[in-house]
Amino acid sequence: MKKRDIKTELKKVIKREVKASKMRLGIPQPPLIQNHFLREMTKLLRYNPNNIGTTTRMMTSEDSCRKLEKRLIKKLAGWFGDPDADGYVTSGSTEGNIMGLWIAREELKKYGKPIVIAHKESHYSIDKACRILDLELFKTNTENWKEPLNGKLLKEIIGDKKRPVICVATIGHTSTGIIDDVLSISNYLKENHKHIYLHLDAAIGGLFVTLTESQKIDFSRTEVQSITFDFHKYGLFYYPSGIFMCRKDLQSKIINKIDEYVSIFDDTLIGSRSGTIPAIMWANIEYLEKRGLIDRIDHIIKNKNIFIKELVSKKVRYISEERMPVVCFFLDKKIPDNTELKYRIHHIKRPEGYCYTIFFFPEYSDSYTNLLKSL
Ligand SMILES: Cc1ncc(COP(=O)(O)O)c(C=O)c1O
Repeated sequence: MKKRDIKTELKKVIKREVKASKMRLGIPQPPLIQNHFLREMTKLLRYNPNNIGTTTRMMTSEDSCRKLEKRLIKKLAGWFGDPDADGYVTSGSTEGNIMGLWIAREELKKYGKPIVIAHKESHYSIDKACRILDLELFKTNTENWKEPLNGKLLKEIIGDKKRPVICVATIGHTSTGIIDDVLSISNYLKENHKHIYLHLDAAIGGLFVTLTESQKIDFSRTEVQSITFDFHKYGLFYYPSGIFMCRKDLQSKIINKIDEYVSIFDDTLIGSRSGTIPAIMWANIEYLEKRGLIDRIDHIIKNKNIFIKELVSKKVRYISEERMPVVCFFLDKKIPDNTELKYRIHHIKRPEGYCYTIFFFPEYSDSYTNLLKSL
C-alpha cells in the first residue's frame, strides 16, 4: 500500500475516534489523555526502554526509566498506606487481579486449597483469574446485588468450609459504583479465620476513594495484601497504565528465575513491558501531586452532581456512591437501541427496571445534557 493511502485510512480512523471519544458515557475510558510531557514521551518511545521485572525489588541504574518507575510506585504506595509495598505498572486491572489471586494462591496453598469469595457484581476478570489459576470462586447471590460485600455475606458463603479464604473486595463495582465494605470484611476475616488474603480491585475507584476518603480503604487495613487500580481509567492516562501493589516481598511467591540468559528476575505476569509509560506517569504525578489529582476528582464529581440533579428533577431513580464517578439509574422503559449505541451505554435488566451506568469525565458535559434530554 502507498504511504499516502495508508495515511488516508488512518485519518478516517482518527476522525471517528475524535467524535466517539466524547460519547462513550457507558465506558470507564478517559475521552482525552492529560499528559504534560508529550515531547519527552515521543523521544522515549523511540528508544523503547523495557522495564521487565519489579523495580521496587531490584537495584536500578541511575537516570533510568526503572528508577523513575520505582519512585512512582514508592510515592503511590505511600498514598495507599504502605510506603514499603512493592509493585509495578501493569497492563491493567485484569492483570492486577490475576497477580493478586496468583500470589494469594501461592501464599495460602500450604494450608489447603483456597476458596475465592467475591461479590456477584465483581468484574469478570476475577472469574478469568480463577479459571486460569484453577481456584474455586464463590459469589454473593444475585438478589443481594445492591448490598456491598461485607462480613455477614462472607460468613454465609464460608459456612463451615475449613479452607483458606481469598477475598476480593471491589472498590467501586463497574456497573453500580458500589464499594464493598472493607472494614467489615477485614474485621470478619481477622476474627474468624487464620489463613486469609484480602485483595482490593480498585480499578475504577482507587484514586477517588483513597485520595479523598477520610476512612481509608487501602493498606492501612492490615488484612489488605494487594491492590490494583488503573491510571488508564481515572488517572486520565494512556493504555496500558494499571498499577499493582502488594505487601513487601510477596511477589517472591511467584518469581521466575531467568538468570540463565539475562541477569534479571521476573516476578510479574507479563515479562517485557514499557519503560516509557511508567517514566511519563512518574513525570505527570510529580507535576500534579495529590492536590492536582484531587482538583480533577472534584471537577468530575461536580459534573456528576449536576447530572444527578437533573435525574432528580425528572424523577429518575438512581444510585451513586458519594465519592465515585459513577451513576447507575433505572428506567421503566428501555432507551432506544440507537441511543444506547450512540452513547455506548448498555442496560442490565434488574427487578428495579432497565439499569444504566454512566461514567463521569471532565469533557462530557454536552453529551450528558443531550442524553438527559432524550430520557
Ligand atoms: C472493577 C474492575 N476491575 C477490573 C477491570 C479490568 O480492567 P482492565 O480492562 O484495565 O484490565 C475493570 C474494567 O473496567 C473494572 O471495572
